[in-house]
Amino acid sequence: MKILVADDEKNMLWALTNVLSKQGFKTFTARDGEEAIHQFKKHLPDVVLLDLKMPKKNGIEVLKKIKKINDSIPVIMITAHGNIETAIEAMKLGAFDYVQKPFEMEEINVLIKKALKIRDLTMEVELLRDELSRISRGNQIIGESPQIKEVMDLVNRVAKSNATVLILGESGTGKELVANAIHYNSDRKNKPFVKVNCGALPENLLESELFGHEKGAFTGAISRKIGRFERAHGGSIFLDEIGEMSFSTQVKLLRVLQEKQIERVGSTEVIDVDVRIIAATNKDLKRLVEEGRFREDLYYRLNVIPIKIPPLRERKQDIPLLVKYFLQKYSLETGRRGMTISDSALDKLKTYSWPGNIRELQNVIERAVILSPGREITEDQLPPEIVKRDRQVELDEFKLPKNGVNLNDLEKSLIKQALDMTNDNQTEAARLLGITRHTLIYRMEKYGLKDRN
Ligand SMILES: Nc1ncnc2c1ncn2[C@@H]1O[C@H](COP(=O)(O)OP(=O)(O)OP(=O)(O)O)[C@@H](O)[C@H]1O
Ligand SMILES: [Mg+2]
Repeated sequence: MKILVADDEKNMLWALTNVLSKQGFKTFTARDGEEAIHQFKKHLPDVVLLDLKMPKKNGIEVLKKIKKINDSIPVIMITAHGNIETAIEAMKLGAFDYVQKPFEMEEINVLIKKALKIRDLTMEVELLRDELSRISRGNQIIGESPQIKEVMDLVNRVAKSNATVLILGESGTGKELVANAIHYNSDRKNKPFVKVNCGALPENLLESELFGHEKGAFTGAISRKIGRFERAHGGSIFLDEIGEMSFSTQVKLLRVLQEKQIERVGSTEVIDVDVRIIAATNKDLKRLVEEGRFREDLYYRLNVIPIKIPPLRERKQDIPLLVKYFLQKYSLETGRRGMTISDSALDKLKTYSWPGNIRELQNVIERAVILSPGREITEDQLPPEIVKRDRQVELDEFKLPKNGVNLNDLEKSLIKQALDMTNDNQTEAARLLGITRHTLIYRMEKYGLKDRN
């Protein structure tokens, strides 16, 4: 610990540094105000003892100056008897406290300890605050698997362009998160980012929501409405659940993509819009096209840059990192610091198949943090479907379809699933399947699963 003692009285300086260095402080001294500032800059001490009355620059001036240089270092003022007013002024300027001459060394010791303690706490609060804002910004894509890294890489490469992006992925895989990342990493980041859930509104409402309408365009259109495309001008629009869009709305959307123009419902006026389109769906759009439920031309217009987010079960490597991230997030949010998870509970999370993907994982952790009586989350706080891997129960649910199954296909699919669930850990996969590792390897060869990547 470094301490700077500034006092023009030689004896005082000597007495103080003597005692303080015996207590283990590294001491620096100054005999006048200017030297004090110089020493402060040079050594950046942990605490400062500062005499109010000094030549060249008095204590108040020195205090002002060093608070400007670094206002988190505590300064204790030393004042002559009867100089309380100046001491109070110093406190107003940010001094930590003051002692009056003559003083007992014990008084100084207590103040130094207190000052250091408060400084540590302040630093901790600042760190937590930083962390909280980093986490609550929530725009961070967490993960270290090659699959998610590829997604992040693609996001970075396309963000700066104006190209239309189509984000594909199962429910809860992070499609909206990726859409956010694209907009907020683009040059449009200070312009509006407008989100529309195409699945949430009936057809006619969705159209007027997207393109706006004129007064009297239809019953209930009591005033003009500006649509989301117009609102998003200069920025980006996120068309979520695009697979739910009706055919007629698809036609209108196609026009926006082609002409970069819209017409409000009930108007013939054409309005130019400059909007970057990011669409997302958990549907297999290509299949919808084949089934005639989604326009092929629109599909190709949207599918300029597809970003496919793999389901969590295909990147189980990310689970521990995500768990850590959500633990931190919900610990902070619920004011329960430093929550951890037991190894066996983490193992359960790692082998579960996560049909609801990251959203499901997030919910599980949030719930566990709330339910956990102690600092460590155990299996007791995890939902039964994750903890119970009772094979019998699951087998009971097997029903032979009326048109039958191909036993080989079934076996191959189960082996694949077991390998997916265990990140290709053959011992673990064999255990899940109730066969020996040797048998597993034999069957993997049989089904051409030997060289999976
Ligand atoms: N890689 C990730 N890192 C951190 N948080 C993530 C990640 N992926 C998803 N999340 C979080 O999981 C939740 C679900 O993500 P999001 O809403 O983006 O998914 P989605 O694909 O849009 O789901 P849905 O299809 O159900 O709308 C969000 O709270 C999101 O912040
Ligand atoms: Mg979503």
